[in-house]
Amino acid sequence: MLLSLEDVTTYYGPMRILEGMSLQVDEGELVCLLGGNASGKSTTLKTILGLVRPRAGRVMLAGEDVTRWPVPRRIAGGLAIVPENRRLFGQMTVRENLELGAVLQDHGHFDEDIARVHSLFPRLQERRDQLAGTLSGGEQQMVAMGRALMARPRLLLMDEPSMGLSPALVQQNFRIIKEVHEAGVAILMVEQNATMALSIADRGYVLSTGEIVLEGPASELLGHDELKRAYLGA
Ligand SMILES: Nc1ncnc2c1ncn2[C@@H]1O[C@H](COP(=O)(O)OP(=O)(O)OP(=O)(O)O)[C@@H](O)[C@H]1O
Ligand SMILES: [Mg+2]
Repeated sequence: MLLSLEDVTTYYGPMRILEGMSLQVDEGELVCLLGGNASGKSTTLKTILGLVRPRAGRVMLAGEDVTRWPVPRRIAGGLAIVPENRRLFGQMTVRENLELGAVLQDHGHFDEDIARVHSLFPRLQERRDQLAGTLSGGEQQMVAMGRALMARPRLLLMDEPSMGLSPALVQQNFRIIKEVHEAGVAILMVEQNATMALSIADRGYVLSTGEIVLEGPASELLGHDELKRAYLGA
């Protein structure tokens, strides 16, 4: 198992946000994490990355207990994130933002990795010298994704990658996520767009107030009546 959350409980101050949560992502798997607003999806990703420490339970990455590891060590161990709202450095260029993604890598394969990002997102090559803060929302999402890929992740965490994108860009974004997955990168994706996320995912989990209430193969979740009513707008 590449990633495993074992009975994780996370608090912010006195507030319990995640409760006894267990979740797995296998090598090369694309898993989506669904759930309503404030259900704890972003907190789950932050717990995996190490931005918050669980009060109980363990985070296992490739067989190692990383629960006490600081963020940079986890990134060096193969994690990367496309965070909520992208979090680019707006006063730096596209190219510089991409370079930051590779900062914990040895630089032997930098040119190769930039070329790969440019082939996925030709727009970023055109805009390489533009300040990231002046890009359109869709272009900023490309930079956030490209930056994460520059870290050569084994597991890519994505927090609502289609938030704020036009329908056409959402489609394009999902195509690229699928392509990255097919290239062998494991992905754990938080998405509001449940139908689209499940249509490309292998498996899914549904979170409700910090607890997993449903899990299974994506095809099964897509046909699940209760889930349809609650999250798929049917
Ligand atoms: N730093 C923080 N301090 C205190 N409470 C927080 C903090 N971050 C998040 N929370 C609370 O934790 C709960 C879960 O938040 P989280 O961001 O994980 O939800 P989410 O499922 O990602 O929601 P959304 O769909 O709106 O992005 C919310 O009630 C939120 O207010
Ligand atoms: Mg969130």
